Amino acid sequence: MKVSALSPALLGLVASAQAAAVASSIQYSTVTGYFLQDETATDASTFDYTAVNFGLINRTYPADQVLKHQGKDLSQWERFYHQVQKLNTDSDNDVEYKVLFLGRHGEGYHNAAETYYGTPAWNCYWAELDGNGTSTWHDAALTANGVNQALIAHNFWQKQIDEQNIHTPDNYFTSPLTRSLQTANYTFNGLNLPHNAAKFRPLVKELFREGISIHTCDHRRSKSYIKNLFPGWPIEKGFTEDDELWNGVTAETSGAQDARSATALGEVFFAKSTKEEAFVSVTSHSGEISSILRVLGHRSFSLKTGAVIPVLVKAEKVKGATSTTTTVSWTASPHCTVPPVTSVTACVCPSSAAPVTTPLVTDV
Ligand SMILES: *[C@@H]1O[C@H](CO)[C@@H](O)[C@H](O)[C@H]1NC(C)=O
Ligand SMILES: *[C@@H]1O[C@H](CO)[C@@H](O)[C@H](O)[C@H]1NC(C)=O
Ligand SMILES: *[C@@H]1O[C@H](CO)[C@@H](O)[C@H](O)[C@H]1NC(C)=O
Repeated sequence: MKVSALSPALLGLVASAQAAAVASSIQYSTVTGYFLQDETATDASTFDYTAVNFGLINRTYPADQVLKHQGKDLSQWERFYHQVQKLNTDSDNDVEYKVLFLGRHGEGYHNAAETYYGTPAWNCYWAELDGNGTSTWHDAALTANGVNQALIAHNFWQKQIDEQNIHTPDNYFTSPLTRSLQTANYTFNGLNLPHNAAKFRPLVKELFREGISIHTCDHRRSKSYIKNLFPGWPIEKGFTEDDELWNGVTAETSGAQDARSATALGEVFFAKSTKEEAFVSVTSHSGEISSILRVLGHRSFSLKTGAVIPVLVKAEKVKGATSTTTTVSWTASPHCTVPPVTSVTACVCPSSAAPVTTPLVTDV
């Protein structure tokens, strides 16, 4: 069947099926019973990770038995770390457990502008511009509030290090968009890390960027810009000088996004780090973290700007599965050339003008 003959709803299904095909060489699942964010009773809208120890549930673990024999009095995070190590040593080479600390960037100028204009006007018009003269949101930077949110994460990590001897990430990844780069920096730069902890040198990874819409906030800057902003940080191999994914006309579907999230995770599990490097930090975006959670089989859990949740993930290599790459087509995003009357599922422009698909700014 020709894909273009399908309705948008069916297109979504086709896309998800293709995403599943791409992900099929590794099967991911969320191991529940360890974190509050995995429980249906936990309300994401009121969840404050700093008030509940990152959501880590107070409980005993099978690994505690071994530790008791050593006569140690360990914190919840220390015991949990041993439990994750036990899960890894007790499983064969086709299985890997990791704890992903998924952090959403702090508030950016695009977040503030969406609130200011309201979502309909934002989606249908303002988000397609670089800014409004007083505020710029093309590849948006953090607002002062956003910087504060990242510093709250910084202080919370320091507190957990000091009070619980938490095992800090063995590997760090960040989206290449400015708001995530800044958030990773304010969160982890300058922490007084535990002895023997991995240094904070995040890998800038293209596929951990936000869902690619026609909004200019999703258009990243060049590799040279990133290198210049954070000179010491590694940038993954193959990262192009200019953004070759954003085009300002079509948007990635959630199926296409899940396929790339699965690709990104496939470069973290069994590859980038070993079983001994079980704690991983990913600084990313609300839409992208939602996509990662779908791939991980986690329940839907929206993070507020600046929030962080750990997820215990089991990854299993599926024997005999081949990883196929299928191109999932993106969809055009009609918008108005002036602020719209309304938008719920589609933009309604003033004076009955038809929405257009041509970019409003071309100099980006
Ligand atoms: C876990 O136990 C500590 C005391 O050991 C307590 O302060 C904390 O509130 C408990 N946390 C949860 C989420 O129950
Ligand atoms: C631009 O948007 C910001 C909100 O992001 C708002 O505070 C400001 O007043 C707007 N400027 C103009 C000229 O409308
Ligand atoms: C990185 O973080 C440090 C420590 O908070 C801060 O002083 C510095 O300005 C930040 N750099 C950038 C480019 O944001």
